[in-house]
Order: sequence, then structure tokens, then C-alpha cells
Amino acid sequence: MTVSQSAPGKTKQLGIIGGGVMAEAILSGLLAQKAYAAADLVVSDVTAQRLDYLATTYGIATTLSNLEVVQTAATVVLAVKPQTFSSIAAEFAGSEIACDLWLSILAGVPLSKLEAALGSCAIIRVMPNTPALVGAGITALAPGKSAQPHHIATAEKIFAAVGEVLTVSETWMDAITGLSGSGPAFVAIAIEALTDGGVAAGLPRPIAAKLAVQTVRGTTELMIQKDLHPALLKDQVTSPGGTTIAGVASLEASGFRSALIGAVQAAYRRSQELGQ
Ligand SMILES: NC(=O)c1ccc[n+]([C@@H]2O[C@H](COP(=O)([O-])OP(=O)(O)OC[C@H]3O[C@@H](n4cnc5c(N)ncnc54)[C@H](OP(=O)(O)O)[C@@H]3O)[C@@H](O)[C@H]2O)c1
Repeated sequence: MTVSQSAPGKTKQLGIIGGGVMAEAILSGLLAQKAYAAADLVVSDVTAQRLDYLATTYGIATTLSNLEVVQTAATVVLAVKPQTFSSIAAEFAGSEIACDLWLSILAGVPLSKLEAALGSCAIIRVMPNTPALVGAGITALAPGKSAQPHHIATAEKIFAAVGEVLTVSETWMDAITGLSGSGPAFVAIAIEALTDGGVAAGLPRPIAAKLAVQTVRGTTELMIQKDLHPALLKDQVTSPGGTTIAGVASLEASGFRSALIGAVQAAYRRSQELGQ
């Protein structure tokens, strides 16, 4: 791959390679927040049907050619599965690429591997999460050695449009993947289990589901707005001999805390493995 640092003649501001779940979360968030217009975006994927859906739903340009994305977009987001990365990088070998900025959201794939495959372009390793879809994501950025302040500013602009942004050292990225990248699934399971608990206690499922999701939403909103430590919130709602302390004792007996700690650790280790 021949690389030039400037990006003349680029017709799109942002390109995404891999139009899956995370790509849709990011692009729909960016459009909803008006951070980019549909005309600024292009997405590639291997499935024409998926591209038709994205083009029809969001009015963006789409292509089956990853190379076309790289050649037309100033900033390129890599949003394929980590296992696909080597074959994607091989597609660009021998092509002339005027790169400006690459943003990789691939779980586990380290900057060293990205930089070895993508040459001297500026690269930032990024870990977003799916609440980006509704502007409530949290994204960690780990800049590579060629990333300049204006590259970091571009990445911050993109991900600030879909939630909070933290810039961190790469050494934390696998742990962040295990916590906030995978965390929405853990929280979703907790909400599903709360719902099942309500059903087990005699509530109709739709009512239990509404109570469960709004309880989690309200609790997080309360903690954020009042800057409340979780232990304090728990203490405030556990009256002596009451219902809540009975439930807390049951959670502790079932190893709830250990289960969540173990889930984050397992996801962290898996992120490390994906980078091998
Ligand atoms: N989902 C999350 O919560 C989350 C959070 C943080 C980071 N990530 C990271 O984001 C990346 C994407 O995850 P995802 O959940 O969005 O996966 P996904 O839904 O499977 O999206 C990947 C997309 O890339 C397509 N694709 C496969 N091979 C391709 C190729 N050679 N060229 C272009 N497109 C290709 C896939 O098509 P097919 O399905 O037809 O193969 C699919 O549409 C992963 O690296 C993951 O680690 C995900």
C-alpha cells in the first residue's frame, strides 16, 4: 500500500468499512445529532442487502468496495469483526491511498498491529458502545503514534456526537472493551432478569418489563445527576428489616457482584486474545 498523508479530492468526510450493528449505531447517532449530513457519509459492506437497507434508511452513499471508501473518505472507521482485519488490510496492499485518519473500533486489535498493516496514516484505536445509537454512548480513544491533536479533535467530534468521550492510554483499551464495550449486554441481562423476577412474583410481563427498564434508567440518572456513589444509594434505600435488604442479602448469597466482576474480566481476557 502506498500512502500519502494529504487527502486531496476526497468527496466524503467520513467512511465506514463494515455496515453492521456498531456502524449503524454510530452513523445514525451522527445524523440524528446533525454532526454530519447524509451526503458526507459512505459505508461499505459485503452484503448488498444490508447496504440497500442503510442507503434507504439513512440516505447515505454505499458501496461493495472497501477501497472506494478509503479513496473517497477523509476519515475511515474500521467497523468489521476483528477476525476480518487481516483480509481487509490485504485488500489495500498495492493500492495508492491518500489517508487522513483511520479510526479502528475493532475489539482487541492493538495499535501496533493496525500501524503495521495500515502504514503511516494517523490511527486512533476506539472503543464505543451501542448506546451511541441514542446519543448515550461512552467512547474511549487511544491515539497512535502518528495521531496529531487535530486528528484527536476529529475523533472527539465524531464520538462526542453520540455520547461521552475519554482519551486514554492504549494499555487500558482491553479493560474498557470488557466494561463499557461489552457492558450493555450485561446490563440488558440484568434488566431481563429483573423482569423475570417481577413475573415470578405475579406481575404481567409488559408491566414487569416497564418497571425493570425504568428502574435501571432512573437509578443511573439519579446517580449521575446527584453524583451519588452506588454504595450510598444502596444504603439510602435499605431500611432496617425491610424488603430491600432482604433482596440485597439474596443477591449477595447468589454471588451477584462476583458474577459481574467475572463477566468484565472474561470480556477483558477475550479482547486480549482477539489481539493475538
Ligand atoms: N457490537 C458492539 O457492541 C461493539 C461495541 C464496541 C466495539 N465493537 C466492535 O465493532 C466491530 C463491529 O462489530 P459489530 O457488532 O458492528 O459487528 P457486525 O454487526 O457483524 O458488523 C460487521 C459488518 O461488517 C461486514 N463485513 C464482513 N466482512 C467484511 C468485509 N470484508 N468488508 C466489509 N464489510 C465486511 C459484516 O457483514 P456480514 O455480517 O455479512 O459478514 C457486517 O455487516 C467489531 O470489531 C467489534 O469488536 C462492537
